[in-house]
Amino acid sequence: MVLFTVNEEKCVKCGLCAKVCPSWLISFNEEGFPLVLSSKESSCIECGHCALFCPVSANSLSFLKENEICKKSELPFPSESEAINFLKTRRSIRRFKNEVISKEIFAQIFETVNQAPTASNKQAVRWIVSKEPLETKKIVRLILTWLSEVLAKDPQSPVALLATVMLEKDKEQEDGLLRGAPHVAIAVVPANYKWPEDGAIALTYLELAAHAVGVGACWGGFLTMAIRHSEELRKYLGINDDEHVCGAQMLGYPQFKPVRQFAPRRNININWL
Ligand SMILES: Cc1cc2nc3c(=O)[nH]c(=O)nc-3n(C[C@H](O)[C@H](O)[C@H](O)COP(=O)(O)O)c2cc1C
Repeated sequence: MVLFTVNEEKCVKCGLCAKVCPSWLISFNEEGFPLVLSSKESSCIECGHCALFCPVSANSLSFLKENEICKKSELPFPSESEAINFLKTRRSIRRFKNEVISKEIFAQIFETVNQAPTASNKQAVRWIVSKEPLETKKIVRLILTWLSEVLAKDPQSPVALLATVMLEKDKEQEDGLLRGAPHVAIAVVPANYKWPEDGAIALTYLELAAHAVGVGACWGGFLTMAIRHSEELRKYLGINDDEHVCGAQMLGYPQFKPVRQFAPRRNININWL
């Protein structure tokens, strides 16, 4: 199947498709219509920009799902201040309602996450998500098992200090590790992957997409650390040794929400050149 086709009746020969192509794959025939030489097709990273940016929607791609794309003008958009306030009001949530996130809401969140940028559009991030609170609780137990082992092996290690606190909290029936979140989402990439930051970007999209639909999130730093060290936990989660754990988010409906905004921050550190 031909990768790139152009509707010559619509095309205005503006050349914008060639300008936005990240890999300079588009050239022009004698009549000035854009084309991708078959010898160049395998270099396409499938970003879709030649079609998405075309001002007259003249271009089509073999992998483009026409029924899934729409005109930007058909999308409702927040105002500038609404969009900025949306970003600035995301806060870490550490108390969750006893309520699961439905399949539909998860689908909506992950559809948004799937729009995150990835290096060369590789889309190498794999997700492991606990659907049920029972599975999340099992993860907490496995983290606690690992922390007990760390404590027994070297009571002076920095992790042992954390282990003491978390095991104490557990005795008080409090989940200090995942904060009682009903779900967690873990992002992994292949261990030898050049751009592990793709995972962190996707996790950031995840917490923002969650914020958009009223779901609370918090980065699971302890969880990430535990997965990186505990073979038993990796086994339970189905994470292979040839995979790198980029990070994790705890997810659930917030029990409490901040009444005032914004969070105090130090002055941002920028060296303007
Ligand atoms: C990589 C990373 C790991 C984190 N790990 C944890 C964690 O294990 N537990 C926790 O309660 N918060 C964790 N946080 C949340 C930070 O404490 C929080 O982002 C920071 O205090 C700022 O607060 P805000 O997110 O509400 O703006 C983590 C954040 C990041 C970015």
